[in-house]
Formats: sequence, structure tokens, C-alpha cells
Amino acid sequence: MTQQALIVAPSMLAADFSRTGEEVATIAASGADWVHLDVMDGAFVPNISFGPTFISDLRAHSDLPFDAHLMIDRPERYIKEFVDAGCDSITIHSEASLHLHRTLSLIADSGVKVGLSLIPSAGVSSIAEVLDLVDLVLVMSVNPGFGGQRIIPATLRKIEELALLRKERGHHYLISVDGGVNLNTVADVAGRGVDAVVCGSAFFNAPDRGQFVADMHRMAGR
Ligand code: DX5
Ligand code: ZN
Repeated sequence: MTQQALIVAPSMLAADFSRTGEEVATIAASGADWVHLDVMDGAFVPNISFGPTFISDLRAHSDLPFDAHLMIDRPERYIKEFVDAGCDSITIHSEASLHLHRTLSLIADSGVKVGLSLIPSAGVSSIAEVLDLVDLVLVMSVNPGFGGQRIIPATLRKIEELALLRKERGHHYLISVDGGVNLNTVADVAGRGVDAVVCGSAFFNAPDRGQFVADMHRMAGR
């Protein structure tokens, strides 16, 4: 079976925050697919980024799907705010939400796609019981909190494991990888069967963002 074209999801975390409206518009103009939004609370991760008001203001500047990645404690408290802000998918971390089944169901009932992320120390088995509720599994290839880090190679094995499990159990989730993806690493990541890649610094630092996205597809072979 031929794989679908790789979904490219630039992360606004690496944008120039003094010009975010213009910056988000370059994502659609470059031919990339989703806008990845890294929400950090300074508690679940050692960094603070932005919240629902920022996302709601950005919404006027892009028609692409908004892929929110909530690196916040007890995300169940804020699902409604992020849905109302215009997010199309909401990804949470299992460690941040005690009653994970309930929180994932809350996201689904809110009418947006349900995402669940694995930090580098978490195995696929830790989320196996809820995979039937999930539309997107986000494999963190770095420890969450900051852009511009290098991939931790051992994390990439989880892509193949998730792809196999999806086939065996008939799940429907997409698999995405987040952290350290660039023109040098995308071939390895894509070759393992990932559906989507998040790229922050590589996209926003590229001299020509349209060329960068074209090069990502070329290097990925799809
Ligand atoms: C890290 C974030 C990532 C990050 C990716 O906590 O979830 O989305 O911004 O940035 P790069 O592509 O620079 O590693
Ligand atoms: Zn992210």
C-alpha cells in the first residue's frame, strides 16, 4: 500500500511572537498542512507559551486545521476554552490527566479530534487501553518544553509499534512525531510509517519556507 503524502505541521512556538498573524499566514502559503500550537503552563513543562486567547486571535489569519498540543496539568479544565478558540484537534498527555478516559471522551464530545501524546519515557502500552478513543497519537521525540532540541533516537521505535498495533487492532489514529524533525531527520522518521511531522525551528528558520516544505516531501519520499 502506498502511503499518503506526509502531513507537515509547523509549530508556532518557533515563530516571531511580535508578528504572529503574518507568521501563521506563511504556513498555508508554504504548502504545509496543519498549524501546530504548543500550549505550555510552566508546571507540566518548564516553559510558558500561550493560551486560548492567542489561538482565537490567530484563527482570523489562517484556514488550516489548528492542531493544539496541550502541555498543561489537568487539561480537562480548559477543553471548552480551546474548542471555542477554534482548535480542530486537541492533544493531551496521559500523565497530566488522572481520569484519562473521561478527558478523552470530553474532547470527542466537544466535536474536535482527540489526540494523545507520549513523552520519551512513556511506552505505547501505557495508552493501549484508550487507543480506540484516539484520532491522533503524538510521539514526542524530545522531552517536551522547548523547540530546537535533537531527536532522542530510541523514541522513534514507537512509530513502528503504533503502526503495527493500528493494523492488528483496526484502530484509525494518525501517528505524528514532534521534536527535532528537519531535513536531515525526516527521511528516517517518515520511513518508519509516520503520518504527520511537527517542525518548529526548521520551518521558521528556513530561508524559503515553501522550498522547505517541498524539500521535506522530497526527503520523505512522499
Ligand atoms: C516541544 C514542542 C514541539 C517543538 C518542536 O515541547 O511540543 O512542538 O516546538 O520544535 P522543533 O521542531 O524546533 O524541535
Ligand atoms: Zn508540540
